[in-house]
Amino acid sequence: IKPCLSGRCIYLVGMMGSGKTTIGQILSEVLDYSFFDSDKLIEQAAGGTAVADIFKLHGEGYFRDNETEVLHKLSLMHRLVISTGGGAVVRPINWKYMHKGISVFIDVPLDALAQRLTAIGTASRPLLHHGSGDAYTQTIMRLSKLWEERSDAYTNASVRVSLERIADKLGVGDVCSVN
Ligand code: S3P
Repeated sequence: IKPCLSGRCIYLVGMMGSGKTTIGQILSEVLDYSFFDSDKLIEQAAGGTAVADIFKLHGEGYFRDNETEVLHKLSLMHRLVISTGGGAVVRPINWKYMHKGISVFIDVPLDALAQRLTAIGTASRPLLHHGSGDAYTQTIMRLSKLWEERSDAYTNASVRVSLERIADKLGVGDVCSVN
């Protein structure tokens, strides 16, 4: 696929826990591209403040504005693989930037996502924070609600691929157990 890309960036989109960062790092090596994680860039721009703290201190709207700004800046560059935050697909303006490259939706069943996120822990993901009660049940309930709001937006991606298939193509075996 390298020649077809002509240096265009690849944007990985998908729900939280879908393996965008893991796949993105491997894909960037395969393609000899640089890898960026939009959440990490937002944290760096905020002087090292974690995403969860940005949400707490300034609210989701502020985080989304920063996300859009980061995607805009990245869209001016070439030969990057970019792991985007799960909610980046919701704002139409972000698609204006992401459509300058190729967007790949990593499709993972909600049940698998909930299992992965419950195992990893949800402290760093403010939209999944939960209090008492069964962590898996709360996580899948929140993911289901987000999926309802976002599933249409993911269809804007240029390519939709299952995590198993992309992991198989990249020869990385059981990527599902890695975050
Ligand atoms: C979010 C996903 C997170 C992060 C933020 C909001 C979302 O990124 O951007 O917590 O709205 O789904 P990951 O998808 O990398 O977890």
